[in-house]
Amino acid sequence: MTNRRRTAIVAGNWKMNTSLQQASTIVSRLAELQPTESTVKRVLIPPFPWIVSLHSAAREAGFLVGAQNCASQDEGAFTGEVSAGMLAPYCSYIIVGHSERRHLLGESDDVVAVKVHAVLRNGVNPIICVGELLEERESGQAKSVVACQLESALGGVTHEQIAKSVIAYEPVWAIGTGRSATPDDAQEMAAFIRSKVGELFDKATSDRVRIQYGGSVNAANAGSLLSLPDVDGALVGGASLKPDDFSAIINAAL
Ligand code: PGA
Repeated sequence: MTNRRRTAIVAGNWKMNTSLQQASTIVSRLAELQPTESTVKRVLIPPFPWIVSLHSAAREAGFLVGAQNCASQDEGAFTGEVSAGMLAPYCSYIIVGHSERRHLLGESDDVVAVKVHAVLRNGVNPIICVGELLEERESGQAKSVVACQLESALGGVTHEQIAKSVIAYEPVWAIGTGRSATPDDAQEMAAFIRSKVGELFDKATSDRVRIQYGGSVNAANAGSLLSLPDVDGALVGGASLKPDDFSAIINAAL
């Protein structure tokens, strides 16, 4: 059992995967595998259309529900968008700035920052994703890239709001590639993120903020990544679609 300073949070980002039937099968299996109460906050982040129907079964199984994205605006003529306020009755967390949205869908730091505020003003907790590209790591810019993303995403966020937020360090080269960061690299960046939050807010705040690692987390590597002193949980993609593996990852955070 890990001696944690902060409540661990393990979230499964299903991305654009699952039919409704598959989604409910995952929840049922997780309900069998996991106790209804846990010291780990467990979050399921399905595609938008499944959120409402999965919500009750997930809650009964002790899982919170989250969303993968939201609109920058609260309402209006924004065809195809879903606002944080619409998600708030069902979602405890909303992912903001996932690298797939930054790099495949062109979301800029400015858009990410606006969305962080949209999530917070609607009373939901953001999971704010940051992380460098492979070429940025190889050219020694990983920390400066992450620092810029943090400065932008956390602009105007209050001490109370950052305490409820989660920061996910997801090196882009590790996402969906089967190549996770080494525990040393993950710890070094998580500690850097914590110190950056300390600079932007204060030490007490940085001690409280939860930092997840994400990128090819699986049942085999979760133990070494989730026992790192500055890593308070995981944002899991592919392995969260396999309930037995996801359950083992959650157990690694106990
Ligand atoms: P992965 O995805 O676990 O499939 O690498 C992680 C993520 O995108 O959050």
